[in-house]
Amino acid sequence: MNTVLVGLQWGDEGKGKIIDYLCRNKDIIVRFQGGNNAGHTVVINGKKFVFHLIPSGILRQGKICAIGNGAVIDPAVLIEEIKSLTEAGIMISPDNLKISLLAHIIMPYHRLMDALREKNEIRKIGTTKRGIGPCYMDKVSRFGIRVVDLIDPHFFECKLKENLKEKNPLFKKVYGDKGFSFKAIYEEYNAFAKIIKPYSCDLVDYFYKLKEKSFLFEGAQGTFLDVDFGTYPYVTSSTTIATNALCGSGLSFLKPDEIIGVTKAYTTRVGEGPFPTELEDKTGEYFRNKGKEFGATTGRPRRCGWLDLMLLRRAVILNNVSKIVLTKLDILDDLEEIKVCIDYTLKDSASTGFPVDLSKVTPVYKTVKGWKTNTENIRRYEELPLEARNYVTMIEDYLSCKIAYVSVGEMREAIIEKDN
Ligand code: GDP
Ligand code: IMO
Ligand code: MG
Repeated sequence: MNTVLVGLQWGDEGKGKIIDYLCRNKDIIVRFQGGNNAGHTVVINGKKFVFHLIPSGILRQGKICAIGNGAVIDPAVLIEEIKSLTEAGIMISPDNLKISLLAHIIMPYHRLMDALREKNEIRKIGTTKRGIGPCYMDKVSRFGIRVVDLIDPHFFECKLKENLKEKNPLFKKVYGDKGFSFKAIYEEYNAFAKIIKPYSCDLVDYFYKLKEKSFLFEGAQGTFLDVDFGTYPYVTSSTTIATNALCGSGLSFLKPDEIIGVTKAYTTRVGEGPFPTELEDKTGEYFRNKGKEFGATTGRPRRCGWLDLMLLRRAVILNNVSKIVLTKLDILDDLEEIKVCIDYTLKDSASTGFPVDLSKVTPVYKTVKGWKTNTENIRRYEELPLEARNYVTMIEDYLSCKIAYVSVGEMREAIIEKDN
């Protein structure tokens, strides 16, 4: 059984926790897009692991984890992640971690370009400043440096020289910055290359031989950060929806059997961009505090708001979702009343259908009764309070899609499997 897992909102839906849970029955877990803009959290016996590049399946023994061609890799971050996992007693070796030779490498000038653009008050979009966008820009412009290029010292030298020749004058002219020295980057990245080389391989060939195994594709970011279908230009620079899973992994010969979409029981977003159900009041603060809504990558406070079923309905269609995982239901535990967006009114047009520009909509809410009960220790669906089950059913009915799991706490075991 091959499963693709994606976020249905603006990222941070709890994908890491769910990957850790679902990968028990999988052989291979693959990241297919994005880079260390992602922060995927898994909490085991009170110990918190945050993954930026390595798939969240690495904590389970005997699993193979891979980073596909569609991802972008900052080697310093990858090496640090390998090191800190090894120190935590997790065995990482070229047997259980594979990196595509075709994945693109994030260079120091990508991070600088990202940071400099974010200094521009008009053009900034609140990126993670990890160099993700500029790295994908070079990929598409055909200036990029891939893993296969990095691990060949002579080729890397030529590519880096070419790139700096072009980029340094730009840094000087546009940003007044002095640019980069070839020697410093060459030496640093050559050292990275030596560490990364044993993990790198042609994933197409490698996976083709293992095509009878079961795959789990770990999406990063979320549907509305997708470069095409998200709230452009306030998006990331990759295709985050499920159709990219095979292409971004080199597994075009495989067929996914199911697509799992993860959503929180409310909504959050980090960075700029429209967010119709955002709450800039006490309830928003409540979500941020109780839900610990601070970025797993940058530590920035996440913007919080009510669940938006208009967005979710669109996400279910865009990803062809077979079933849903609802996370953080426990965060709603203390609320007397819960609002859910079930429609939009448009500010300056009467058009029906999904409004592509979300900055022009006003949400229409339905108010439901809260359950005022602690759900964190509940493990059987029937034991959830009636109002909580009603909340789940309301979402299913509105989306015409079943919720297969409900997550009620950050701990690995705080999850309820729902019979459908
Ligand atoms: P991801 O990027 O989608 O993997 O999500 P993040 O790890 O960035 O953010 C999700 C946060 O919520 C993490 O701190 C998780 O430990 C936590 N979390 C996940 N599921 C639940 C849940 O059901 N309840 C609570 N209280 N926390 C959860
Ligand atoms: P996970 O995988 C939440 C957001 C940034 C910014 C926009 C563009 O943990 O869900 P980028 O650095 O990608 O160019 O920033 O996308 N963003 C995320 N928000 N979760 C993420 O990943 C994100 N990755 C990027 O905050 O608004
Ligand atoms: Mg995250």
